[in-house]
Amino acid sequence: MKLKYSIIISFLCSLIFGQNNSFEPGKLWKDTDGVHINAHGGGVIFVDGIYYWYGEFKTEGKGGNTALKGVSCYSSKDLYNWHNEGIVLKVEENLKSEITKGCIMERPKVVFNKKTGKYVMWFHLELKGKGYDAARAGVAMSDSPKGPFTYKKSYRPNKGVWPIGFKEEWKSASADQKNLKSWTPEWLTAIENGMLVRRDFEKGQMSRDMTIYVDDDEKAYLIHSSEENLTLHISELTDDYLDFTDKWTRMSPAGHNEAPAVFKKDGIYYMITSGCTGWDPNEARSFKSKSIWGPWESLGNPCIGKDAELTFHSQSTYIFPVLGKKDQFIFMADRWKPDNPIDGTYIWLPIKINKEKPILNWLDKWNLAYFREN
Ligand code: GAL
Repeated sequence: MKLKYSIIISFLCSLIFGQNNSFEPGKLWKDTDGVHINAHGGGVIFVDGIYYWYGEFKTEGKGGNTALKGVSCYSSKDLYNWHNEGIVLKVEENLKSEITKGCIMERPKVVFNKKTGKYVMWFHLELKGKGYDAARAGVAMSDSPKGPFTYKKSYRPNKGVWPIGFKEEWKSASADQKNLKSWTPEWLTAIENGMLVRRDFEKGQMSRDMTIYVDDDEKAYLIHSSEENLTLHISELTDDYLDFTDKWTRMSPAGHNEAPAVFKKDGIYYMITSGCTGWDPNEARSFKSKSIWGPWESLGNPCIGKDAELTFHSQSTYIFPVLGKKDQFIFMADRWKPDNPIDGTYIWLPIKINKEKPILNWLDKWNLAYFREN
């Protein structure tokens, strides 16, 4: 009931002041210039009373999923009204640049490094004209949350280093594995036993869908879909957040997870992911662990209600705490529109934790009062 009253009040405010006062998942979200927000696969940080939302700037038409402009940024004091701060990491005209116009830059995530005082952006990078084969993690840096970000380099993470818990006998290839037919139980077991980790040991592990998580002790981790999207890797970053420490682990081997989003509440780490069906939605998964290094326990689909088996027609991208605090979390997801990517919409929902399980309930319209009232 209370939620209804606050929605009515916010509706009246929006009529009187022309401002947004609520979230309407899946609808067009207009920025303060009246233009649909263009920040897909994004993430949000909170700095000195202001939220910054970074995302993929998509364009019209079939080619609109490639990076023709770069990474966009919007700022807001209240999470409802967003001001366009422009493109903060621009693609480059130089054809030799790894971020040349027409490359793929997905899922940008920005974090602040307290030691260096820099804002660090990581994103999924695919080289122009190479489809999704490069599978690299790109990094850029800025002195200000509003950019401009300077591109540093890209990685195939964890080159020449075995993950934590990788068995001695898995380190050498068994010749017959090469001929295994994909998706057979034997093939899945071979993946679990590190067949693709071995394959990519020299050149570095794949990194596609990704997120960054900064822990309470300021250590940061790149969490990335690797091994042809079959296994998630959790890779610790160096103190400046620009490189890898060589400490890494595999999560849910052969579990086929994408779109990871992580948060921590009351000492428990939670992760929400999707399955792998490209731009088409599928059923989300959730996990919990007492340590970032696992073991991660599978908790099943966190969504409840109509279209819960399709994550409400969306795919996770990030989870952030309201006001940067630890108790109220917003789940961010994308409703992709591959035929005209610029039309993609955003699904933001409050996360509830019930007996150490994250729950996402569909809401047509809601605002931050939900956290006080539920
Ligand atoms: C999705 C992934 C997106 C994008 C897309 C390309 O599964 O989550 O970020 O890479 O595939 O088909």
